[in-house]
Amino acid sequence: MQKVTIKKILNRKNKKPIVCLTAYSKAIAQIADKYCDILLVGDSVGMVLYGMKSTRDIKIETMILHAKTVKKFSKRSLVVFDMPYKTYTNKFVAYKNAKRIINLTKCDAIKLEGGKKIASIIKYLISKKIPVVGHIGLLPQTSVNFKVKGKISSQRKKILEDAKAVSNSGAFAIIIECVVENLAKIITKKIPIPTIGIGASRNCDGQILVIDDMLGLSEHYPKFVKQYSNLKKIIEKSIKNYAKDVKLKRFPANKNIYK
Ligand code: KIV
Repeated sequence: MQKVTIKKILNRKNKKPIVCLTAYSKAIAQIADKYCDILLVGDSVGMVLYGMKSTRDIKIETMILHAKTVKKFSKRSLVVFDMPYKTYTNKFVAYKNAKRIINLTKCDAIKLEGGKKIASIIKYLISKKIPVVGHIGLLPQTSVNFKVKGKISSQRKKILEDAKAVSNSGAFAIIIECVVENLAKIITKKIPIPTIGIGASRNCDGQILVIDDMLGLSEHYPKFVKQYSNLKKIIEKSIKNYAKDVKLKRFPANKNIYK
């Protein structure tokens, strides 16, 4: 089993698509590790596991616990820690938090949301040897509307400039969230680092999905999600059968297991 490295991810530009998923737990890390190049401990954990209203509500300490677990139980994938809201308000705050996160969790890189505005922060982190993944397009931490981006030309221009700024700052990959297909294609063509799409078409160098969305465990699904399973149904059926067995005294089985 060969560990995925940043160099290997960089080499995947315009080559074999990069497979990424979010992961927050031991079981998912162990399974996804076999098939994914990158596991992202996303701030989506707040909404997905804790029922928070927004990704802004998750605290760094909670994410550190999840990241420690994901890192511990994944041997092959590159593990990326998604910096929560307001933990990178300037380069010094960003460095202090990122350094602590990497030290405690042993994650391989961190991810920040934003383009031109945070380019100097990305540059600074990289100068301090902290590998960075960028995130442009729809930015859940700061967006006021969650609509597809890049339909109007001023927005397209800004997102392309954001992509270039993140790439020029030294990030080794960039997540593009919810942008029109053609814009994802242009960005992927124009920047030298791999692009990873979420709702940004197959024109990207890789894809990422929120694990609970693709497994069918979520309550609401973005349009772009493909559900590969309906775990909610499977879990409900299992619990229903267990409850029935307990009530009918069919479980535990009538045999002495402690002989
Ligand atoms: O937190 C997250 O899950 C993310 C993905 C949507 C890319 O940032």
